Amino acid sequence: MEELKKLIQKAKDDFSKVSELSDLDHVKSKYLGKQGPLTDAMRGLSSLPSEEKPIVGSLINDIKKSIEKALGDRKSEIQAQLMNDQLKNENIDVTLDGKKQNKGTLHPISITINKIESIFNSIGFSSTDGPEIEDDYHNFTALNIPESHPARAMHDTFYLNKEYVLRTHTSSVQIRYMENNPPPLRIISPGRVYRVDSDATHSPMFHQIEGLWIDKKISFANLKWVTQSFLQKFFENDNLKIRFRPSFFPFTEPSAEIDMEWNGGWLEIGGCGMVHPNVLSQAGVDHDLFQGFAFGLGVERLAMLKYGINDLRPFFNHDIRFLNQFKV
Ligand code: PHE
Repeated sequence: MEELKKLIQKAKDDFSKVSELSDLDHVKSKYLGKQGPLTDAMRGLSSLPSEEKPIVGSLINDIKKSIEKALGDRKSEIQAQLMNDQLKNENIDVTLDGKKQNKGTLHPISITINKIESIFNSIGFSSTDGPEIEDDYHNFTALNIPESHPARAMHDTFYLNKEYVLRTHTSSVQIRYMENNPPPLRIISPGRVYRVDSDATHSPMFHQIEGLWIDKKISFANLKWVTQSFLQKFFENDNLKIRFRPSFFPFTEPSAEIDMEWNGGWLEIGGCGMVHPNVLSQAGVDHDLFQGFAFGLGVERLAMLKYGINDLRPFFNHDIRFLNQFKV
């Protein structure tokens, strides 16, 4: 019995030498395991006289409890030590400056389109869009440009196959919108367009914004007022002058190029005209009842003038130094 009592202190000494939780399990089995001295002693009970059995039995139990408690205490100590070490090593200095996040910017073309849209939205035009992969019918035929019409050669078209093209202008959206919405209607449609063309002033992909206003009494005068007041708002200049130069588009009659005054000269910024009766009827609009105008503006041109950029290429070559200048 004296030997057994000494076990408590021995176990405590052993436990205190251990500093890892995994080693603790090992030492635990040395005392409390199946091969341990306490299990042995329990087995030996059967050979004792019966009046000693309960005394020795309860002593063994008490020792076992003491060792278990010592084990639990040491376990808590080790865990507390681990936690302290962790807190010391992984502490965060919350008083340090934060890392600066580099905020992105909207692309100048997106900024320009947003501005154009918000001006037109404010005078009752709603925004819509159409597919960039367009069928020949909506890009040409329905716009009064039948097959073999010389006007098709004016557009250096990317053909995907016999039936589909990358749209050469946003005018295809006029047709799509009229097919699905009865007049009166008043829409703009910004988006990408494509032409086989590439140099300092031409990119194979660029942006247009199409406008269309169809109602019973829409005239050329309305067209001129809308385009002029749009440009005056866009360039924040109430005295900005524009002029219409006679032109030709198969889908409008009469047609004009829109020029605006710039540095003492005139700059072309888009095309326009009264929607051709053939186009209206082709898209299901009764041209005896309804008429109206359409226009197409070049977004890059407007952005270049607005921000004083004289080359088209920086819009498309992703130079962060260029783009960062448009931070708001
Ligand atoms: N779609 C014509 C172009 O790309 C512009 C335009 C639009 C002209 C609407 C008249 C009416 O060049």
